[in-house]
Amino acid sequence: MKFCVLMASPRLKGNTAELLKPFLSELEDHKAEVTYIPLSEKNILPCKGCYACQNVSNKYGCIQQDDVLEIMDNIIACDYIVLATPIYSWYCTAPMKALLDRHFGLNKFYGSGKGSLWAGKKVAIIATQGYDTEYGAGPFETGIERLCEHSNLKYMGMYSVRDEDDLASFQADTAINGARTFARRLLS
Ligand SMILES: Cc1cc2nc3c(=O)[nH]c(=O)nc-3n(C[C@H](O)[C@H](O)[C@H](O)COP(=O)(O)O)c2cc1C
Repeated sequence: MKFCVLMASPRLKGNTAELLKPFLSELEDHKAEVTYIPLSEKNILPCKGCYACQNVSNKYGCIQQDDVLEIMDNIIACDYIVLATPIYSWYCTAPMKALLDRHFGLNKFYGSGKGSLWAGKKVAIIATQGYDTEYGAGPFETGIERLCEHSNLKYMGMYSVRDEDDLASFQADTAINGARTFARRLLS
């Protein structure tokens, strides 16, 4: 099974990265193929809303030349998209939001273009946030559930841990065991 892990924190060694360690290690133990993409290192331009991609069939078709083209190739090639993000202002961080907006060319709903490039793929969330899961990460989860419904993706659930004590919160046994269990659930 191929995983594309999109890591959206600007802190490459911060809380979200710490929570991902046991998750990735469990995937590795099960010989899953993983592409790990730190989005804050990538050039991700905002969607221009030009709809050019909607008149191109069977390929992404965006007119912008940035790192999103390569990221989309990885998304198209994977079975599982993992959205790993700290919650900023009740949603994902800006690079992930820009990337999510750029999903447009993967769906062909609004022009002469035909053929979804990602229908049927599985999507999961790993989130870290200051508030409890429901209050802090709930709005982002709702948005992703709706994106999955709209795009014919299979939403597989969220694992989130609250930032109560910076890195220590994510180094606790409960956080580590939860991340490993979540990885096994996605693999099963
Ligand atoms: C700019 C900013 C905005 C934040 N907004 C929220 C928020 O809306 N809700 C929340 O629960 N936590 C919020 N937080 C807390 C972070 O989500 C939390 O500390 C997270 O674990 C940081 O992860 P990181 O170290 O991977 O960046 C915010 C933190 C920052 C820096």
